[in-house]
Amino acid sequence: MTASIAVRVPAKVNAQLAVGGRRPDGFHDLANVFFAVGLYDEITVTPADELRITVEGPDADQVPCDRTNLAARAAELLAARHGIEPRVHIHISKDIPVAGGMAGGSADGAGALLACDALWGTGASRTELLDMCAELGSDVPFSLVGGAALGRGRGELLTPLAVGGTFHWVFAVADGGLSTPAVYGECDRLRAEHGTGATTDDVPDPEPSAALLSALHDGDTTALAGALAAGTAGSSNDLQAAAISLRPALADTLRAGTEAGALAALVSGSGPTCAFLAKDAAGAEQVAAALRASGTCRTARVAAGPAAGATVVRDSRNA
Ligand code: C5P
Repeated sequence: MTASIAVRVPAKVNAQLAVGGRRPDGFHDLANVFFAVGLYDEITVTPADELRITVEGPDADQVPCDRTNLAARAAELLAARHGIEPRVHIHISKDIPVAGGMAGGSADGAGALLACDALWGTGASRTELLDMCAELGSDVPFSLVGGAALGRGRGELLTPLAVGGTFHWVFAVADGGLSTPAVYGECDRLRAEHGTGATTDDVPDPEPSAALLSALHDGDTTALAGALAAGTAGSSNDLQAAAISLRPALADTLRAGTEAGALAALVSGSGPTCAFLAKDAAGAEQVAAALRASGTCRTARVAAGPAAGATVVRDSRNA
């Protein structure tokens, strides 16, 4: 049987995204509370003559199959570090919304890295894998580790967080994505427009919310809902205003979920996916059904978390 390895990687929502000023390198310092949820991409790698990417899933046509794909870059990075050629076929079965603020591209990068490391027997340590993930992108290390974690720096410096229960979420998937750099740029523009300035000299250092961390620790849904709504402009996500400024219709989506009984509503990361916290699994199904009927999103998905990080789910070498 041909050797093949399949890895499953979760999506994320940012329970908090506190954004500091723009740094000289163009990135923003963050206090980023990552939370992995049970929506997954699956990445399968098999030996091939040359590096090749294929994608399946409803939004496959929106995913680049060239070397700009983070999965391709992950394979090239690992191969270069070990002085080998990246002769691999990477197949991505995509279920995470594309360019949706749920780290779908990062998930594919982390998954390809873990899968190629197993396929090629390169034996990278956890530290080496995390280091390569950080080189690939700010959210990629979290896709590898999953669960919940506080991300500092540009989001790549992770401290795992203990979570005392399961939280039930609904995700309203928009038509079309938003560019992450464009949303950060809009955040800077809005700050400058409001006279606060946008650089690290002007904006206070971002700090995690103690109330939010303790709600996660206690598994307390009501307390988490309060903390999600407690940040600037009624959201723990500092990018929310920028995402709405670029896509005003997101305000209607957030309102529709709240009217349907969600305990909290916020833009997921840089958007345009909107995230809603529900009381329990039945509550999440109810909010999702109402959102689908509202006409304010393309579809709505339910997902619980915290979910495990990148995990090998099939290894045909052992078959
Ligand atoms: O690290 P990643 O490639 O995911 O970042 C994409 C873009 O998002 C960066 O080029 C930058 O414009 C923006 N970004 C940022 N600050 C962060 C993370 C991302 O400004 N902490």
